[in-house]
Amino acid sequence: MTRTVLITGAGNGIGAAAARLFAASGDDVVVTDIDVDAAAAVAAEIVAAGGAATAHRLDVADSEQWQQLSLELRSANRPPAVIVNNAFFQVTGIAHEQSEGDWNQQLSVTLSSVYRAMRTFHDTLTAARGSMVNVSSVHGVLSWAEQPAYGAAKGGLISLTRQLSLDYAPHVRVNVVLPGSIETRQWDHQGPEAQELARRQATLQRLGKPEEVASVIQFLAGDGASYITGASLVVDGGMTTTLGA
Ligand SMILES: NC(=O)c1ccc[n+]([C@@H]2O[C@H](COP(=O)([O-])OP(=O)(O)OC[C@H]3O[C@@H](n4cnc5c(N)ncnc54)[C@H](O)[C@@H]3O)[C@@H](O)[C@H]2O)c1
Repeated sequence: MTRTVLITGAGNGIGAAAARLFAASGDDVVVTDIDVDAAAAVAAEIVAAGGAATAHRLDVADSEQWQQLSLELRSANRPPAVIVNNAFFQVTGIAHEQSEGDWNQQLSVTLSSVYRAMRTFHDTLTAARGSMVNVSSVHGVLSWAEQPAYGAAKGGLISLTRQLSLDYAPHVRVNVVLPGSIETRQWDHQGPEAQELARRQATLQRLGKPEEVASVIQFLAGDGASYITGASLVVDGGMTTTLGA
């Protein structure tokens, strides 16, 4: 049976790679992003390749947009069986230099969005015996300078995942991935030195590709992971195994 898979922040990077991968194995993908043009481009690419996808504007910080999308999908008989919470928002700077608005927005987009996703679709996930996969970061377990809200949100995602896996068991599995340095547009504005450092920090001596995170997300959402819930899976090329760089 075709599953409906909803992915947030799927217009670029890891989310887009996950959308392509789920669609390639026959899932019906709901490609959502605050940037609807980016989502539309990914959905069009999937459809051109023979897959099933639609694009939707969804700002994950906006509860009304979650409600609107819920109405749309339910009336189209496309209740999500899988949700991938991948969208994020990050502002760098030490804590006292961050405005309260930026602070709250980072937590809202990166962490509270997962609560909104579960509040909106807990019934469809339950009915489908479905799965949620959250995208945290190695920032959830290690700290880098000047990223207090991002680190707090990503750490919070790990404990929230564990909590949801408990509260929605046995019907819904909830897991989280912790990517290391992955080649997305996030690295475009980083200089060659930062990229070289990231390459050396991974024991595999390179940055990861979005597809290498997407394949783990797909695994966690699928039958091959049917006995995995509440788990945190690091996808970092070995970065967190060593202090050496
Ligand atoms: N790239 C890395 O090195 C890396 C490392 C660790 C974790 N991650 C995590 O992976 C996830 C994806 O990151 P990426 O590198 O693919 O980034 P990206 O910038 O390529 O994609 C992120 C997408 O999220 C969308 N987005 C931003 N705010 C949104 C909102 N309010 N509502 C909906 N969508 C919104 C953006 O429009 C964009 O399409 C994030 O959770 C990020 O923290 C990335």
